[in-house]
Amino acid sequence: MCKKYMSDANELPPVITIDGPSGSGKGTIAKLLAARLNFALLDSGALYRTAALAALNRGVDLTSEIALAQVAKALDVRFVVDNGRLRVLLEGREVTSDIRMERVSMAASKVAAIPGVRAALLQRQRNFRRLPGLVADGRDMGTTVFPDAQVKIYLTAGAEERARRRAAQLRGKGVSVSLRDLLEDIRARDTLDMNREASPLAPAEDAVELDSTGVDIEAVLQRVLTLVFDRIQPGVP
Ligand code: C5P
Repeated sequence: MCKKYMSDANELPPVITIDGPSGSGKGTIAKLLAARLNFALLDSGALYRTAALAALNRGVDLTSEIALAQVAKALDVRFVVDNGRLRVLLEGREVTSDIRMERVSMAASKVAAIPGVRAALLQRQRNFRRLPGLVADGRDMGTTVFPDAQVKIYLTAGAEERARRRAAQLRGKGVSVSLRDLLEDIRARDTLDMNREASPLAPAEDAVELDSTGVDIEAVLQRVLTLVFDRIQPGVP
């Protein structure tokens, strides 16, 4: 039986935001949390990655703000949850693995720095809010997209550990990677994400900051669940 979660302040479904830099574990935590609570899941990074892939496929200049904003506005993307796994379709074609390639990661950070791109994708992200609730994973979920979220988490980890996690993930998929290159990429993306004008990566004032360096994922999840149950009251089943 699925419990109903009540948000006390307003009638909108509750939102839990998980923001932080790449490799902090937020994607894993967001997925586990959404499954545990039976909430919808927004992987906003996948949206920026898909916009970047669409731009790369069309040979759009990644410094052309107007052209990139147009790509984002016209983006024909669909997220399908299949056996608990998120599949991403761009113009009807499966791009689930393509959007995780390193060249797309770097391009996504560049594309995401363009205010017109962020504006074009804002309402699409808000449309994910539905009953019984939403877990939203990204960089500006708690600051810009869902400033009224009931629970805001800002998850961090040291850059070396984040690079090691990413390397393990990619090696697990049979992709050979250099730890040094990954660390460089992660630092470059951090710099871009934290220093851009539009919605920079930063904790919301009311976010709870958690450092996952050296902490296993189950322990982080338990900590987050405690915060969630503290702030979102389970309602009538
Ligand atoms: O989370 P993920 O690594 O998939 O995100 C890819 C890129 O998309 C990030 O490096 C960041 O530049 C951008 N992004 C963003 N705002 C979000 C989510 C992702 O700017 N809410």
